[in-house]
Amino acid sequence: MNIIDIIVKKKNKKVLTYEEIKFAVDNYVNGNIKDYQMSSLLMAIVLNGMTEQETIDLTKVMIDSGDKIDLSKINGTIVDKHSTGGVGDKTTLVLAPLVSSVGVKVAKMSGRGLGHTGGTIDKLESIEGFKVTLTNEEFINQVNDIGCAVISQTANIVPADKKLYALRDVTGTTESIPLIASSIMSKKIASGADAIVLDVKVGNGALMKDIDSATKLANLMIKIGKSYNKKTICVLSNMEEPLGKSIGNSLEVLESIETLKGKGPSDLHKLVLTLGSIMTSIALNITEEEAKLKLLESIKTGKALEKFNEFVRMQNGNVNNIQVEENYVSIKSSKDGFIKSIDAYKLGEIARKIGAGRLNKEDEINYGVGIVLNKKVGDYLFENEELLKIYSKHADVNIKEISECFEIVEEKIDKPNLIIDIIE
Ligand code: URA
Repeated sequence: MNIIDIIVKKKNKKVLTYEEIKFAVDNYVNGNIKDYQMSSLLMAIVLNGMTEQETIDLTKVMIDSGDKIDLSKINGTIVDKHSTGGVGDKTTLVLAPLVSSVGVKVAKMSGRGLGHTGGTIDKLESIEGFKVTLTNEEFINQVNDIGCAVISQTANIVPADKKLYALRDVTGTTESIPLIASSIMSKKIASGADAIVLDVKVGNGALMKDIDSATKLANLMIKIGKSYNKKTICVLSNMEEPLGKSIGNSLEVLESIETLKGKGPSDLHKLVLTLGSIMTSIALNITEEEAKLKLLESIKTGKALEKFNEFVRMQNGNVNNIQVEENYVSIKSSKDGFIKSIDAYKLGEIARKIGAGRLNKEDEINYGVGIVLNKKVGDYLFENEELLKIYSKHADVNIKEISECFEIVEEKIDKPNLIIDIIE
């Protein structure tokens, strides 16, 4: 068996066997297959797809590439959550402490940025001192002690995904149903939760651009989950415009803190409550309505924010030191009207180019840079009113490119529907 034959086979739209998939992944992990060969195979998969069986095989090979976490030392039902990725998607930063503050145990492994989408781990690292790696023992102890821990994928858990994810990020190979399904489900299954709630983003700022492909991805992940006896629920949520108002690592942490205080943007608040009610109802065996009331109460009384502070402190972070870039440019509207659309994909790419994400695997992130929107789809604004602020070290932001991300019209525009579907 050799990698060139496997690449050519997929290029010619043939179905790969379990052995071929295992050969390619194992040899990529141990360094025998080079980045340029794996990039070529990934691109062939993006273009020609994989069958359901190939995707299930790929998921298994990825799980078997490393260790599995045993969460049996944590009392209670562990419900994990994962997003397929979006622009301004800081959901985990709010959701993890929020559900944990009402008694749900959260033992979560998160990822870094992928393509134009941001990653929870990069966001957490924008907090001074925050430690994203813990040993398995520290991870489990922390969840038992305070109810919540969020760590980066450790080298030993699905190392295949760790390498493939970083390669996909910089080779234009992110938007593929089998690659996303196997990447997410391998990590969720290896990290040992009892049930999995998936936020499947749909729209121009997401990896899935339309409801049809998002539904396919959701059903595939549910099928993989079921084959490992894990209850899996998918919430399809709108990603036509960025989630909330901030894009960029430390800006998103600050917005998450506001949301935990009950003062955040309404779309983020609603999404967190939807996902949180499902997670809480499964973990505590209560109805979703009862779960939602508990979560709202926790925000109101400040318990949710306290839990966030405790969780950050436990992982060595200093919530009082979250740095935002000082220089910013304010971009204004050229006319009066309602915002019809905001191009989340382009704003995500602009944020990545000014340093909020990576263009090469080795790139260092500039945590303080990013974008803060003043208005969202459906809002009215006057000529010369601020559309957004862009926080960047360099003053050379392309104002025309940014303004073109907004479509402003005379007729009234309704607010978009955030929750598109829930599939189980
Ligand atoms: N999140 C992941 O973990 N993997 C993907 O491929 C996409 C989003």
